[in-house]
Amino acid sequence: MKTIGVLTSGGDAPAMNAAIRAVVRMGTDNDLRVLGIQNGYNGLIEGDIIEMDRSSVSDIIHRGGTILKTARSEEFRTPQGRERAKKVMDIFKIDGLVVIGGDGSFRGAQLLSELGVPVIGIPGTIDNDLSYTDYTIGFDTALNTILDCINKIRDTSTSHQRISIIEVMGRECGDLALFAGIAGGAESVIIPEVEFSFEKVCTSIFEGKRRGKLHNLIILAEGVAKKIGGAEKLAHDLEEVTGLQCRATVLGYIQRGGNPSGSDRILASKLGTRSVELLLEGKSGIAVGIRNGQIIDVDINEALAMEKNFDEKLYDIAQVLSY
Ligand code: F6P
Repeated sequence: MKTIGVLTSGGDAPAMNAAIRAVVRMGTDNDLRVLGIQNGYNGLIEGDIIEMDRSSVSDIIHRGGTILKTARSEEFRTPQGRERAKKVMDIFKIDGLVVIGGDGSFRGAQLLSELGVPVIGIPGTIDNDLSYTDYTIGFDTALNTILDCINKIRDTSTSHQRISIIEVMGRECGDLALFAGIAGGAESVIIPEVEFSFEKVCTSIFEGKRRGKLHNLIILAEGVAKKIGGAEKLAHDLEEVTGLQCRATVLGYIQRGGNPSGSDRILASKLGTRSVELLLEGKSGIAVGIRNGQIIDVDINEALAMEKNFDEKLYDIAQVLSY
């Protein structure tokens, strides 16, 4: 192994930069030539590739986003696109690749490894929707961003004695909503893993009102919002039934940016260095992650095949603590 490449792909996540930094510095520390591939898999197809050294990753550990830029590559989804990428890798003499991204990026990594390219995947997404790892890079920061927003919305919600719906990201995974609901002291958490009940939300509102609650915070996961016509529609329906004012806030892309938390920086540093070690050990088609506090590496096919374990206990805690 002489030359390795690193790319970020899919939706960006805080601490992707910390992971890039770890890969570059661990690589150069082991006398590897490290190349940065820009714009995700598109950069691999187009040859949008830059030389990196220790100083090219200076001053980035605290920055959100990704200095390598990112994309969701349509061309890479085709066999022709992947063949082109493989050829570009041969031209640049890239012997191994580190892919930082979510499940779509991991599927790309898996297909590349089937073409004989040693690839290691680092989980980088705010969604925390990769089953094989307890946490993905960016999740903790996004959670804290959401909490900051909940605190602010709580202030105005209390002043006006309103119901507030806060829609958060996460695709089909309810982790961001569930964790934010518990840590933010929400009255209701609506997530894709649990069947939506309009009646249950109304009951919680009436219960809260009876006990003199000044506000009612509802955390709505985007996976459910899409199915029920959006946060605004839910606000309208709740107003109609409860007779109380209800406002919806869709947090959107604010959740993807910002300075990464300490935990995310540490996780990114551990996973970035481990991915280079694995390439040096001659491994391929591996996803790195964290389970029960330990850094793990699993076959990327297995990682993708695993079903996300829904933490029912955590959902129960949310119910018990919400009123
Ligand atoms: O996967 C991260 C994520 O932010 C999801 O939570 C969200 O559904 C999606 O990306 C938004 O994607 P895009 O950046 O393509 O709008």
